[in-house]
Amino acid sequence: MSLLEVRDLRVSFDTDDGTVYAVQGMSFSVEPGQTLGIVGESGSGKSVATQAIMGLTPGATITGEAKLEGVDLLAMSERELEAIRGSQVSLIFQDPLTSLHPLYRVGHQIAEAMRVHSQVTKAQAEDRAIDLLGQVGIPEPARRVRDYPHQFSGGMRQRVMIAMALALEPKLIIADEPTTALDVTVQAQILELLARMQRDYQTAVILITHDLGVVADVADEVVIMYAGRPMERAGVEAAFVEPHHPYTQGLLQSIPSYSGRTGKLRPIKGYPPSLMRQINECPFASRCPYVHDECRVAPPPLKPVGTKPGHLSACVLPADRVGLSAAAPEGAAAGAGAAEQ
Ligand SMILES: Nc1ncnc2c1ncn2[C@@H]1O[C@H](COP(=O)(O)OP(=O)(O)OP(=O)(O)O)[C@@H](O)[C@H]1O
Ligand SMILES: [Mg+2]
Repeated sequence: MSLLEVRDLRVSFDTDDGTVYAVQGMSFSVEPGQTLGIVGESGSGKSVATQAIMGLTPGATITGEAKLEGVDLLAMSERELEAIRGSQVSLIFQDPLTSLHPLYRVGHQIAEAMRVHSQVTKAQAEDRAIDLLGQVGIPEPARRVRDYPHQFSGGMRQRVMIAMALALEPKLIIADEPTTALDVTVQAQILELLARMQRDYQTAVILITHDLGVVADVADEVVIMYAGRPMERAGVEAAFVEPHHPYTQGLLQSIPSYSGRTGKLRPIKGYPPSLMRQINECPFASRCPYVHDECRVAPPPLKPVGTKPGHLSACVLPADRVGLSAAAPEGAAAGAGAAEQ
């Protein structure tokens, strides 16, 4: 049994302008100790999908299944979910200032998080807060524990968030762009810290990011998401060496180190589809250089592709047609082709 198993998750919001179908059939699973990277363009539903399963999308209509150790989170009451958040699943968001209370000392906030969920005395919780601040690399933790959030740098605040997330030794950490706002040095430290915590506690991590480089460094598996659906899922090596879906190939080709001899960035042409309707075809069809009639009939389901077990792609192209060079000859890269030729 997977630690978390999400099946056909659908999330929509009713707005004044109509319904926004933010997630249109997301499925993935996470094993203990594993890091799952979720990548995709802005607006592809990464945050909504993960927040919805934790009960953090008020007003949304949610269907599907999200089983944590076999128990469906989507069927839980707000009270039950509250007990799970923090104790079994921790969330780290991009902007730590919005998650830390400006008027409480940092150590107090870490200690309180602990005291809400476990039977520790105030003194024990405060000792543990100092210990955790030290573990996340804050110098002089015994002194800094008495500081307020504004006295910390952005990177330090992010580490405080991580310390809070780790305080309860959760089974799963959902980290939504945890390092996007940070410089590369701090980013590397934080990713290393997450990896160390994972080794020590067997914590599973869902890492949401725009940054394919980060995914390549730290993820075991990756889900590539587009317009609210998974386009491809693979072990991280297969995703980079044997990408199958034209969208994945387009993404890889839009980063310089993968864009071939010229070293030129080749952005994917066009825009993602509107989410104001349910998409009844391959969502990438309008941008795909390989589009044909079959793609317009229904969104293709994930199917096994390539040579590695567990490699799935939601594309109708032949399963053995993988890899950038094989799949995308000069001038025919995903989205970079037809319009330019
Ligand atoms: N409360 C809401 N009401 C209406 N629409 C929403 C709401 N929250 C999110 N959306 C829409 O859902 C879609 C998916 O948003 P989401 O935040 O999950 O994207 P994302 O993949 O996390 O993007 P980014 O990389 O920019 O963080 C977007 O079109 C967004 O506008
Ligand atoms: Mg987001």
